[in-house]
Amino acid sequence: MTSFLGTDTIIEITYLIATALFILSLKWMSSPTTARHGVWAGEAGMLLAIAGTLLNRGIVDYKWVVIALVLGTIIGVPLGKVQMTAVPQRTALSHAFGALCVTLVGTAEFYLRAPGVPKFMMSVLSMEVILGSLTFTGSLMAAGKLQEVLPQRPITFKGQNFVNLGMMVVAVGVAVVLVLHPDRMYLFPAILAIPLLFGVMMIIPIGGADMPTVISLLNSYAGLSAAAMGFVLNSKLLIVAGALDGASGLILSVNMSKAMNRSFSNVLFGAFGQEAAVGKGGKEERPVRSATPEEAAGILAVASKVVIVPGYGMAVAQAQHKVRELYDILTKRGIDVKFGIHPVAGRMPGHMNVLLAEADIPYDKLLDMDEINGDFPQTDVALIIGANDVTNPAARTDSSSPIFGMPILDVDKARTVMVIKRSMGAGFAGIENPLYYMDKTLMLFGDAKSFVGSIVRELSGGHS
Ligand code: TAP
Repeated sequence: MTSFLGTDTIIEITYLIATALFILSLKWMSSPTTARHGVWAGEAGMLLAIAGTLLNRGIVDYKWVVIALVLGTIIGVPLGKVQMTAVPQRTALSHAFGALCVTLVGTAEFYLRAPGVPKFMMSVLSMEVILGSLTFTGSLMAAGKLQEVLPQRPITFKGQNFVNLGMMVVAVGVAVVLVLHPDRMYLFPAILAIPLLFGVMMIIPIGGADMPTVISLLNSYAGLSAAAMGFVLNSKLLIVAGALDGASGLILSVNMSKAMNRSFSNVLFGAFGQEAAVGKGGKEERPVRSATPEEAAGILAVASKVVIVPGYGMAVAQAQHKVRELYDILTKRGIDVKFGIHPVAGRMPGHMNVLLAEADIPYDKLLDMDEINGDFPQTDVALIIGANDVTNPAARTDSSSPIFGMPILDVDKARTVMVIKRSMGAGFAGIENPLYYMDKTLMLFGDAKSFVGSIVRELSGGHS
């Protein structure tokens, strides 16, 4: 029986549906209520894209495809199971793999077509290979810094920005020569090697604190190189998916920089986080007031309005389910409980929203910084759980502070402030937090999960 549609048409339709699913996926992922659909749409789109590609008549032997699929599965499954706090470095590794793939495809395509690659083709091939190579090593470096297998501290030397810029100028210059003189094949390795080195050099002066922003920028580069590959392979799907990736990565990086009140160039060239004013677990001489779980429970019990501010420490302690128990017990007592969410709390965009959604805290109780800040003066207790930098009033008042100008949650305006953390150690920016020395502040020293658990036990009369 002859088929109604030819294979090529089926592939095109498959790609078209995949493209639509990618666009819908991004749209749905922009709200917590539709995010789950967004993930499914993205997964379905990718499955269709792979299935469509496997139908391609250009594949004459499926042996290598099967080997690659098995290898990819062996690497991919454990990568999908990492802890939530390790997602930024996991994402960086995914970009590294994607970029390596783009670079290898670009290299293979060059040697298949050379010498005499037409000018347009050589231009997109060069862009693909340059962006792919620098994203590969840059992403590996970023993952290494976040996983702390490489030093987090920025490594700088005199004239560094000049050297880095110089390397890219040379790489682009070589690419231009190759476009104009496509017979000079011997130049091709240079547009691989220089960006590979540039990827390393680009990341070493950037501090660990800025890595999530850099990773989303690398995401953008990976997307652009994939779009360039789409032109090389004449794949509309790759062009659209790459462009979506490139644009969304760039928007995310810009939004993250804005939320930290940092310019893009400051993130890339500013060597932020070089000096830590207070090391983690560092000693502090000034006295602070601390309280026990029983005392904290007593204060919460008589409050009528409580705002909970979660941060990175809640994620580390995996305290979100205990926080949910606390929310339940307080609301049952008629206390108005809301959550104040800072856009860069935690270590990745939406980190707190994801954790609190996992614990089934109603979305309408999670308020963005701009929505909640006006409430603090009427709030009886601001309960901070493992957050630090995003509550630091020095950002408003101390022009010498590295986070000066960063919008913060105005917790210091609440009547009482309670802070759950393990020590007087600094947050990610490595700086001291004057909030802890205010008269209205009570430090609740301990691990977030066990401390919140103890408060819940106290409030439920020892039955939790
Ligand atoms: P941080 O300022 O990093 O502070 C987290 C605090 O949690 C630490 O001071 C730590 O104090 C405490 N902690 C750690 N483990 C804990 C545990 N098991 N139990 C209780 N407390 C624990 O966090 P934040 O306020 O969420 O701010 C985020 C920072 O990351 C900002 O500087 C932001 O600019 C940066 N950043 C975020 C992003 C995104 S997209 N979210 C991207 C780039 C940079 P102890 O050690 O004393 O316990």
